[in-house]
Amino acid sequence: RTEGDCVTTARAYPNIALVKYWGKADETLILPAAGSLSMTLDDYPTTTTVTLDDGEDEFRLNGEEQLGRSADRVTAFLELVRGHARVAGLDTAHYSARVVSVNEGPTAAGMASSASGFAALAVAASAAYGLDLDTKELSRLARRGSGSASRSLIDRFAVWHAGDDEDSFAEQIDAPDMAMISVPVSTGKKAVSSRNGMVATQETSPFYDAWVSSTEVTLREMIAACAAGDVTRIGELSENHAIRMHAVIAASQPSIRYLTPASIAVFDEIAALRAEGIEAYATADAGPNVFAITRPELAETVSARLAPLATGEAKILGPGPGARLIGDGE
Ligand code: PMV
Repeated sequence: RTEGDCVTTARAYPNIALVKYWGKADETLILPAAGSLSMTLDDYPTTTTVTLDDGEDEFRLNGEEQLGRSADRVTAFLELVRGHARVAGLDTAHYSARVVSVNEGPTAAGMASSASGFAALAVAASAAYGLDLDTKELSRLARRGSGSASRSLIDRFAVWHAGDDEDSFAEQIDAPDMAMISVPVSTGKKAVSSRNGMVATQETSPFYDAWVSSTEVTLREMIAACAAGDVTRIGELSENHAIRMHAVIAASQPSIRYLTPASIAVFDEIAALRAEGIEAYATADAGPNVFAITRPELAETVSARLAPLATGEAKILGPGPGARLIGDGE
């Protein structure tokens, strides 16, 4: 190993699911109970540099040394990468790693920061340890950090397949051009992590089985709508599926609620736009921030209407690139 050999940088973007993932078939392998479908965004990237080193693993996020749970998750992930390196007979497997990440979107507030984070880490760490993984293998690896990260490996639109460890990965799917508008209404960290929220839903929500079986149906309908280029159908299915996810979560005992009154106001404003004939649809992940889905030519109009409801900058987003290594100065 020569100086500077084992320093790699990768960039990944969040993705927003049109068919959501909520619930696992296997907690350790992070296998989803059902498939999901998402758009990778072209903003809010995470850029991660991994440097091999001796000693303990280290994780810095936005300039701050991380300790506790988020550092443990990174170390557990690096252990997986080192396991691959050992199997491949690489002597890099002995090294620890310094991980430095910069997140340009809000962290852990339903802006999919874990998706861009683990997708960037999968690409940067596997390269730093000398592994040569294809997109499918990288997607499987990223999945182990955070399920939705499997989809941030993919350009534009991705389907993440349910299945066993071998065949649960994300792949690209053709879909019509669409725009999303982020409507941040809170920068706070969410009270219940996705991981804990999923467990609670699976264990205590009486609607969970119906959620899983109806998601399988919706995924098939969504894939057909994407193939047909039917933005109206994609939007209708997306909004309804998001509302179903928040409903199955709310039915947990005790109840969990990620949407706030400010989020609901955005859903209502999007419905009001539709009533005026301006086509837009709402979605939200496990947090209060809302995303509008619309046609690219309507994005400016929709954004102007929603911006007053946002506490941060409402941004127009398009389909973005999958996670990849970047060189100096990019
Ligand atoms: O990847 P996780 O474990 O943070 O789960 C994300 C789940 C949702 O964002 C709520 C839905 C999804 O499909 O991205």
